[in-house]
Amino acid sequence: MKVLVIGGAGYIGSHAVYELIRDNNEVIVMDNLSTGKENMIHKSAKFYLGDITKKEDLDKVFDSEKNIDVVMHFAAKLIVPESVKMPLEYYYNNVEGVRLMLDAMIRYGVKNVVFSSTAAVYGEPIKPICEEDDITLPINPYGASKLATENMIKWVCNAYNMNYCIFRYFNVAGADKSLDIGLDKDNLTHLIPIVTQTILGIRNKMKVFGDDYDTPDGTCIRDYIHVTDLALAHILGAKYILNNNKSILVNLGSNNGYSVKEVIDAASIYGKVNYEIVERREGDPAKLIASNSKAKDLLGWIPKYTLDDMIKTDLEFRRKINNK
Ligand SMILES: NC(=O)c1ccc[n+]([C@@H]2O[C@H](COP(=O)([O-])OP(=O)(O)OC[C@H]3O[C@@H](n4cnc5c(N)ncnc54)[C@H](O)[C@@H]3O)[C@@H](O)[C@H]2O)c1
Repeated sequence: MKVLVIGGAGYIGSHAVYELIRDNNEVIVMDNLSTGKENMIHKSAKFYLGDITKKEDLDKVFDSEKNIDVVMHFAAKLIVPESVKMPLEYYYNNVEGVRLMLDAMIRYGVKNVVFSSTAAVYGEPIKPICEEDDITLPINPYGASKLATENMIKWVCNAYNMNYCIFRYFNVAGADKSLDIGLDKDNLTHLIPIVTQTILGIRNKMKVFGDDYDTPDGTCIRDYIHVTDLALAHILGAKYILNNNKSILVNLGSNNGYSVKEVIDAASIYGKVNYEIVERREGDPAKLIASNSKAKDLLGWIPKYTLDDMIKTDLEFRRKINNK
């Protein structure tokens, strides 16, 4: 396949690029490097510095690259509290950016799109195991911008005889086995990197938000997926829509969950995790797990990596970038 990866210098996009190249595909990356880093882009991928909210940047890529089979889109803004403060910037980047991307795909005859969506489109979960046809009621502008984009993609693909593969991710963690790429950002908010930063002494202590939830150990249960498993799903999804000329919307999760304390215990074999229990955070459900039956049935996708793989690769990557 010839694949254009928009946002391929970011955390998940760079892992998709690595797996696409390992699978012998031709890969082109477009990224504005707003949160991504040029050194995260695989050396075998052709890179265009550009912004998808600019038609001329998109046209430059599509004019130069003929016969693209699939566009994969990872180029979103995704910090929930920031989205609450700056909703228009989120709608502009996440929705208008994709509108222009779809417009370019139509003009240049590119028929297949793989889009990264999020569990945030579901909003407050109505049941502990989340399925694709559950109600979508996002509770922040980030989730709302992703849902609006999902709907736009569906209508456009319907009108122009195109195919989409929309993936709704749950909690993503870990780093590539090469340790060349991983989650390299300031102000990390995800549990596993916070735990590994605490082990490495980058943080003195971490906070556990509430231990009085209705779960076996009282801490919240979430569904975690290794970023390489997620990247591999993108290849399967792209091939599925290309070969079947059909669109799909699929959750990417593990059908399984770990509590915050279970994650801390699992990481403790690598070093001490100092933590304190603090008040619950508003809006945190006790348990949130993704059903992945649809991904298994349609794509034959089964997550291969364990919680230990996520902790270990994230820890090793963090050790490398912090010289610890
Ligand atoms: N990280 C997660 O846990 C998570 C969970 C659910 C969904 N997602 C989705 O996955 C996707 C990728 O997330 P990530 O964690 O890799 O984020 P990231 O910030 O690491 O990557 C996003 C990439 O897109 C680029 N980008 C942003 N706006 C752009 C624009 N207008 N033009 C060109 N490039 C642009 C950035 O420079 C960056 O390289 C996003 O769509 C996000 O909504 C992520």
